[in-house]
Amino acid sequence: MNDKKLTDRIKKLSDKYLATGQDLYSFLDGLLYSDYMGYWDYIHLDTLLSLQTPKTDFPDEKIFILYHQITELYFQLILLELEQINKNGKNVLETGEDLGWNKQITLNLFIEKMERINRYLKHLINSFEIMINGMDRSQFIKFRMALLPSSGFQSIQYRMIELRSTDLENLVTGTDKKKTSLVNQFEKVYWKMGANDLDSGKKTYTLKQFEKKYQKRLLKLTNKMQSLNVWSKYKSLKKKDRESKRLINLLKEYDTSINVNWKLAHYKSAVKHLKSQSQNIQATGGTNWQEFLPPRFQKIIFFPKLWNKKEKEQWGKEWVDSII
Ligand code: HEM
Repeated sequence: MNDKKLTDRIKKLSDKYLATGQDLYSFLDGLLYSDYMGYWDYIHLDTLLSLQTPKTDFPDEKIFILYHQITELYFQLILLELEQINKNGKNVLETGEDLGWNKQITLNLFIEKMERINRYLKHLINSFEIMINGMDRSQFIKFRMALLPSSGFQSIQYRMIELRSTDLENLVTGTDKKKTSLVNQFEKVYWKMGANDLDSGKKTYTLKQFEKKYQKRLLKLTNKMQSLNVWSKYKSLKKKDRESKRLINLLKEYDTSINVNWKLAHYKSAVKHLKSQSQNIQATGGTNWQEFLPPRFQKIIFFPKLWNKKEKEQWGKEWVDSII
């Protein structure tokens, strides 16, 4: 072994521990006695594989649970990138030195993060087939009754993705887009409007439960994100960078991937499992799903300024027409 290399390394370690008033020898002893890391420990495999607890004996319920969990993990991957855009990205030198968060987001970093997000969404859109054709319908319509009134509608991470991407006013539908206080505007967000009983106008129980658990947290994030979301960061770029075709295309790809193509893949699963010849089956979350879910009715667009009038009018239409 090269002694100089070894002493250099030990000096660095010693400096590191001295700087915090700690003793290098104790840490070296710890290293001596500690066991080697196993793959199963690192990724907590046993815990991971113990998190699927079906409510019935139908084997396909496990597919349903696993695919939701897989999707939530992908949502976490997307959020990891979005958070970095919101904070302008971490500055780490080639040497490994951490210089903290950047003051301003750079074009290259923005592009890299958007590429990653779009890559994840491609996987999610392609894999939704598992829910559409990879699950037995007759089992699904039975085991779903054991899950009432929970619904993917209550996915906090999905809502966080939306709020980290765009201004709140772009998540408010139709005539309710008026500028009122953020709290009032938040009450008119499209998914709350979609979860109101058509006759009584009352909130569904699924929505009430969701608000009880997450309302405060989501409002706090909404407030914070009005100057930090992806659209704000795009606007904060220098004019030359704002004109980058590459970035604009990536942002548009993101907008259609999440607000049209993912929603459509998801809608197909509802059509497959909840639509029947005689009568439509009620959704577990109690929404009028045929009117709530299709992207052409929701018309959620994260970056409306990047689309022309016709594209906005046609939002999600072509695709939806092809599957109805
Ligand atoms: C057979 C599979 C599925 C069916 C039949 C289905 C059905 C539905 C329905 C009917 C709704 C409307 C709310 C309600 O009344 O419950 C909904 C909303 C939602 N579901 Fe699913 N879902 C499926 C799979 C998934 C998966 C795998 C995810 C992944 C996390 C998911 C996430 C969501 C989200 C985020 C919403 C809210 C959508 C929005 O606000 O536009 N769903 N789902």
